[in-house]
Amino acid sequence: RSFLLRVRHYCDKAPLKLRISQAFSTADLGKSVKIQGWVRSVRTQKAHIFLHVNDGSSLQSLQVVAGAELNDQLLTFGSAVEVTGILKKSPHQKQAVELEAQRIHVIGECDPVDFPFKIKERHNLEYLRQFPHLRCRTNAFSSLLRIRSEATAAFHSFFKDNGFVQIHTPVITSNDCEGAGELFQVEPSSVGDAHREFFFSVPAFLTVSGQLHLEVMSGAFSRVYTFGPTFRAENSQSRRHLAEFYMVEAELGFLRSLNDLTKVMEDMFKSTTEQVLARCVEDVDLFHRHVTPGHRASVDAMLKSSFPVMSYSEAVEILGRSTENFTFPVDWGCDLKTEHEKHLVKHCGNVPVFVTDYPYRLKPFYARANQDPPQNTAAAVDLLVPGVGELCGGSLREERLDVLTAHLEDAGLEDTYDWYLDLRRFGSVPHGGFGLGFERFLQCVLGVDNIKDVIPFPRYSHSCLL
Ligand code: 4AD
Repeated sequence: RSFLLRVRHYCDKAPLKLRISQAFSTADLGKSVKIQGWVRSVRTQKAHIFLHVNDGSSLQSLQVVAGAELNDQLLTFGSAVEVTGILKKSPHQKQAVELEAQRIHVIGECDPVDFPFKIKERHNLEYLRQFPHLRCRTNAFSSLLRIRSEATAAFHSFFKDNGFVQIHTPVITSNDCEGAGELFQVEPSSVGDAHREFFFSVPAFLTVSGQLHLEVMSGAFSRVYTFGPTFRAENSQSRRHLAEFYMVEAELGFLRSLNDLTKVMEDMFKSTTEQVLARCVEDVDLFHRHVTPGHRASVDAMLKSSFPVMSYSEAVEILGRSTENFTFPVDWGCDLKTEHEKHLVKHCGNVPVFVTDYPYRLKPFYARANQDPPQNTAAAVDLLVPGVGELCGGSLREERLDVLTAHLEDAGLEDTYDWYLDLRRFGSVPHGGFGLGFERFLQCVLGVDNIKDVIPFPRYSHSCLL
């Protein structure tokens, strides 16, 4: 019993371990607390030292005040520390609380000369990109990652609130959903075994899209979605392409028109953006004030606007009338390039715009053919957004067995996709869906120019660091 009493006594006296974001609520004022984090600034003034310590729980660092006797030469910018002390009301306007330190323990030292970030310097995103293993220690990149995490939650809550079932579609697959041949093949890395068979008995690849698997599931759940990594062997160094990116994909059964699809896409964009703005006020503010100044007005304009819709044919007309000097010529039937997409967005007043009914031959085999000869278009839609261009691609899917069979036969794919034809044989319904590039979404909301700056570890051709 006396042992238990002693344990209880110790627990009552032991400092309260807090995340720094919790320390800012004044609820624990006057208590003995312990925080752990990394030093963001150190300043010595007469008999005191002042530190700012950050633990990633929020953008704000906690000010620690200590007597000079607690100074330690290892206490440098970037070092990892554990501080115990009393949480007090701060005399300074900038923050409500500060920690009066009784003990500072340097857990991990950091040589400020070799550390690539310098105290009080604002490094741009391009500079940070050189240090994929360390950039999360900076304000800008840690804000980005907190926003990314909240944005992920925002997409999940949008789908949950709207009755969608989440499906874990496979990363390894034997099909090329987009038919573009941009596949990474998957095989075990056995050396010197030239005559071995395929591991899966058939060629297998990293997925380029979970759509076909979602179509399977929409045949049972009607509304389904998936949110996971997607891979494309695109030999591109562009500001909006990665070899590994995250895609949010949704598929809806009993859906008969592109209008019904664009409504879901617009609602999803607005709802998730609003949630990110509301849940990440300080982090988003850091971007909109210091990293991409002025971008907030553009986001507000997107949220206020009702997204315009134009057909591909109208888009080609607008581009044809433009006096802009495009690198790629525009004719009916051409694929729209980034420069064209950006022009169309500008034409609509810098708000997101839907472009519908693309030439059938530009779209993959699954797209539903419109009955509109001689043009021959598909019921497909792209959502183009300011600064980025294409954010989402979607379509109604060809649900008619005879039409789909004929298309697959033309492409010599009827055997490969026999299971896909089964979906049309057994209880087929009109359906459609779309995919949104998650990194492009973050670029659009934050105004970030380069896609490599919105993903923790970017993979692109000739680069797979770490
Ligand atoms: O337009 P995509 O190719 O559509 C599909 O894959 C459909 N199967 C999706 C579906 O209907 N379920 O790709 C969808 C989005 C694009 O609009 C773009 O935002 C993003 O994925 N995307 C990329 N993002 C980064 N890097 C790349 N290499 C990308 N390729 C596509």
